[in-house]
Amino acid sequence: MVTVVVGGQWGDEGKGGVIDYLAQRSDMVIRAQGGNNAGHTVVTEDGEFKFQLIPSGILHQHVTCVIGNGVVADPRVLIREIEQLRERGIEPGNLLVSERAHMVMSYHPIFDQLEEAQRGDDRLGTTWRGIGPAYADKIRRIGFRIGDLQKEAFLRKKLEFVVGQVKNPDLEGLFRAESFDRDRMVEEYLGYARALDPFIRDTFPVVQEALDRGDNVLLEGAQATMLDLDFGTYPYVTSSNCTAGGACTGSGVPPTRIDSSVLVCKAYTTRVGYGPFPTELTDHVGDAIRERGHEFGTVTGRPRRVGWFDGAVASYAARLNGATSIALNKLDVLDEMPEIQVCVGYDFRGEFHDHPMANISHLKHCEPRYETLPGWETPLGDCRTWEDLPPTCRAYVERLEELCGAPIHMIGVGPRRDQFVVRGGPF
Ligand code: GDP
Ligand code: IMO
Ligand code: MG
Repeated sequence: MVTVVVGGQWGDEGKGGVIDYLAQRSDMVIRAQGGNNAGHTVVTEDGEFKFQLIPSGILHQHVTCVIGNGVVADPRVLIREIEQLRERGIEPGNLLVSERAHMVMSYHPIFDQLEEAQRGDDRLGTTWRGIGPAYADKIRRIGFRIGDLQKEAFLRKKLEFVVGQVKNPDLEGLFRAESFDRDRMVEEYLGYARALDPFIRDTFPVVQEALDRGDNVLLEGAQATMLDLDFGTYPYVTSSNCTAGGACTGSGVPPTRIDSSVLVCKAYTTRVGYGPFPTELTDHVGDAIRERGHEFGTVTGRPRRVGWFDGAVASYAARLNGATSIALNKLDVLDEMPEIQVCVGYDFRGEFHDHPMANISHLKHCEPRYETLPGWETPLGDCRTWEDLPPTCRAYVERLEELCGAPIHMIGVGPRRDQFVVRGGPF
């Protein structure tokens, strides 16, 4: 049984927690795209864990965790994450890194920052982690793969070309920035090779054998549908396909093997970085949700932009990802609201739109059409069954289900591992 788990909004929907929950009954978790722009939180009895590259199933010793070929992994960050786990008494012996995964090289975050500065007022608000430049180099075929760490002569020769002929001339000529010392880089990367050697593998046979055995495999999406390179609010997106299709190319799991698709949403909406956000709240209601939901970036600490649930975005995401289930998180954050607004679509130049328009200038200037629903004004943190939820709360969930066109099988009522209401699906 293969389940793909993807974000349904602009990220930080609580994918990490959903993966950790599902991993209890899974054999393998594969991260298929993105890099350390992701920050996935898991809260257990041992406290809070934040994963950037390591799959969120790692706390379950029986689960094989794979960093798939579609990921761009910064070896410095990966080594630090492994060390942090060890410091907390967890030996990630169940971690594998695909030889085919590309590396975020030490110059990529620098290019990310320089390019953002160059964009001026049109900057995207990237995480400065070098994600865009690393994917650009992969497409340009001048990227370094994790497997290159194990080929010293090849690594040396390629660094000579890429750093000497491409990166340093760009840094010096275009940005008047400091160049990189190739010899020092060779030594640096050979050090990373030693640290990562036990984890590096051709993961193709590992994944195929799991599929052949009929194992339960989870594909852990990072970022989200509205940040997808093709279907998000381009150019205010990340540089990978974070929709379900990207999970296949980024892991080597064929599309025909996917059994279910879980779309993770919040009961409201947040966004970090720039770009259109039709239901954004810039008033005290937004501030209240931000405070109650602790909406500050996991990776950069930036305050997240906050807004009402956008049914047009969620139904678009449900359709693009073929969602068979929705996990609706952070419902408890709305506990104190007397009334809750839900966007059902947008009005733009006399026309109604039930999905985000491709033209982001239209999306920026459209008028969201809202429905007002009563709040429940009751704490949900201890609810564990559908019946435990107050009737107005159930009505809210049912209305979102209708708008999304997919069943809400899991509801998050708090950050902890046990704070879920489950009512079907693969959960
Ligand atoms: P991800 O990137 O999709 O994995 O999500 P993040 O980890 O960046 O952000 C989700 C945040 O919300 C984390 O701090 C979680 O611990 C927290 N969280 C997840 N689900 C719930 C929930 O149902 N209620 C509350 N209050 N917090 C939640
Ligand atoms: P998780 O997996 C929220 C956003 C950045 C920026 C845009 C491009 O934790 O949900 P990038 O550094 O990727 O080039 O930045 O994408 N972004 C995220 N926002 N959650 C994430 O990941 C994100 N990953 C990237 O804020 O707007
Ligand atoms: Mg996150």
